[in-house]
Amino acid sequence: MSLAQRRILLGVSGGIAAYKSCELVRRLRDLGAEVRVVMTEGATHFVSATTFQALSGQPVRTSLWDAEAEAAMGHIELARWAERIIIAPASADLLARLAHGMANDLLTTVCLASAAPVYVAPAMNQQMWAHPAVQANIDTLRQRGVHLLGPASGDQACGDIGSGRMLEPLELREAIVASFGKPVLRGLKVVVSAGPTYEDIDPVRFIGNRSSGRMGFAVAEAAAQAGAEVTLVAGPVSLATPPGIARRVDVRSAVQMRDAVLAATPQADIYIGAAAVGDYRPAEVADHKLKKHDGAALELHLTENPDILATLAAQTVRPFLVGFAAETHDVARYARDKLQRKGLDMIAANQVGSGLGFEADDNALNLYWADGAAELARTSKTELARQLVTQVAERYRAVRG
Ligand code: CTP
Repeated sequence: MSLAQRRILLGVSGGIAAYKSCELVRRLRDLGAEVRVVMTEGATHFVSATTFQALSGQPVRTSLWDAEAEAAMGHIELARWAERIIIAPASADLLARLAHGMANDLLTTVCLASAAPVYVAPAMNQQMWAHPAVQANIDTLRQRGVHLLGPASGDQACGDIGSGRMLEPLELREAIVASFGKPVLRGLKVVVSAGPTYEDIDPVRFIGNRSSGRMGFAVAEAAAQAGAEVTLVAGPVSLATPPGIARRVDVRSAVQMRDAVLAATPQADIYIGAAAVGDYRPAEVADHKLKKHDGAALELHLTENPDILATLAAQTVRPFLVGFAAETHDVARYARDKLQRKGLDMIAANQVGSGLGFEADDNALNLYWADGAAELARTSKTELARQLVTQVAERYRAVRG
């Protein structure tokens, strides 16, 4: 494990867990990271800036209005300097301000001004953590690509027992180390498709599916972290572009997605088809809103969409192809069949239902290739994407050298 020369900005907000962040600075520096600390006003009531200054070996910033500090390293420079921002502890107030895009102190301003991935480690009383307002803010932040670390459950400083404890410094450090990943895809071009497709019926209606795009976006981010130059072809989703993505192409229908993928793949080494492409589209799209006729059934004529993976597989020079399969039963049999039928190099199958799959935060995958298989156990989509990318890189090297 190494964080040599990695530039980590540690944001500390007001909470008793701030004392553990002192330890976090030590542990990050043990691995060679450069750490700069920004404290909110609230944080200074728990731990002094001098403590963090001594531990980080760098000046600590507490205010947006510090003329001397701004002259040395301004807040925009600080925002650009950071490769990762980790906020530990992240108080309910800090999360609310981040969720609303506020810039009323140095830490929130730096977060807005930085392109670095942001990691938050919430710490608060269990009742506060469970409050719908806090949970809504967490949802907003997650949707925007902020990474959530914890919280853990257990004894709390206030005497309560429950969810809201900050993760331990070593667990936080592990997440930061993992976020840099190994550059297993360095020098390779990867195209990832993600999200659903919408097939228009008329100007106001469409046929779609429940894919959120989160798995595909996580795969694209993991591939970028592994050093690949990533093109992300996204169906209609409400997700921010993950950090490090070279190109994002937004599409709506399966045909548009096929065109965008075909335009991007001639230069690509690997294509990962994580999109839930609609199998059919209305044969004709009405140019006016369809009206209902009392009692009469509506018949829609559907025509089959092009199969993007099969189209790529049919090319003589083609990228390494990874498909996804969502199955409700007989996962291995159907996945292997799809692997063969579509001429893929690898297939990632997940069992949908039982809280896994499309709209869930967690997922599990079974990977199959011609002469092997691997099981990736249930975990967050971010972690799963990382493991998938590692496997894809391994298989790619085995087949293509
Ligand atoms: N796919 C594609 N183009 C399509 C449909 C699917 O490239 N028109 C890709 C998806 O991105 C995914 C994989 O194929 O990687 C899913 O296979 P698919 O045959 O769509 O799975 P199902 O719809 O579940 O098929 P079946 O009904 O046979 O189970």
